[in-house]
Amino acid sequence: MFSLSELPACARFCCVAVDGSYRSRLVRDIHKVPRLLGRVVDRRQREFYSGRWSALCAIESLTGRKEAPDIADDRSPLWPLGLVGSISHTDDWALALVAEADKANRIGIDLESVDAVSKVHGLVELIASAYELGLLVKTVQTGLMTMNELIALMFSAKESLFKALYPQVGVYFDYLDAEIVQVEAGYVELRLLKALNNTFSKGDGFRIAFLFQDRHVLTWQIDLL
Ligand SMILES: CC(C)(COP(=O)(O)OP(=O)(O)OC[C@H]1O[C@@H](n2cnc3c(N)ncnc32)[C@H](O)[C@@H]1OP(=O)(O)O)[C@@H](O)C(=O)NCCC(=O)NCCS
Repeated sequence: MFSLSELPACARFCCVAVDGSYRSRLVRDIHKVPRLLGRVVDRRQREFYSGRWSALCAIESLTGRKEAPDIADDRSPLWPLGLVGSISHTDDWALALVAEADKANRIGIDLESVDAVSKVHGLVELIASAYELGLLVKTVQTGLMTMNELIALMFSAKESLFKALYPQVGVYFDYLDAEIVQVEAGYVELRLLKALNNTFSKGDGFRIAFLFQDRHVLTWQIDLL
């Protein structure tokens, strides 16, 4: 189970196991959660409803209301009015981070299994620039993390950044459109390599927090107003 310490008062985090127990947990609140339509494999059902369950728990803890985000046409979560948030799930865990929209501008969260990421063939070439490859090698030499841990961290930090920015940008942007420029204890710094819109310009920097636990890496960003 993951937990986040030192969250601002306007934010809540919730983590649940992806084990099918959402069925009994959601029994009274199922009408608050959007339905997955069509034929959906069991694994997707478990992850989706566990993600919505964690979002519902985080929202209830913050607002006292039992609500969960709807599904937008582009499949991103549609947060209830007055809230910003983000969801992530793996085979084992589903988690959500939410905050009051008048205190936080945007949120991104992502969880990755280090072992699962290390099995994805050709991933490094897809997500890492030449500069980042050099940074990976230098950071591994410090002994702080293994190469597999660093690649999972890079992948997760970029997905967290994407989830945080997408609601304000509205378009897909690629892993190579942002670059990790620094890795320090508990944080990575990223910068945009191209402008995304009038708000987010080439060179803009973002600080993403991370923690490693049980062969997983969790990354998140809350941008407070
Ligand atoms: C959308 C994406 C980030 C999801 O990440 P993932 O590791 O595959 O899956 P996760 O379990 O961590 O997150 C899934 C959740 O992300 C949320 N999500 C989906 N699309 C989203 C979007 N456009 N914006 C914000 N959140 C989104 C959803 O809540 C989804 O769960 P749900 O379908 O059950 O509601 C990923 O699939 C993707 O398309 N990445 C490419 C873009 C990118 O990351 N670029 C890097 C820029 S530096």
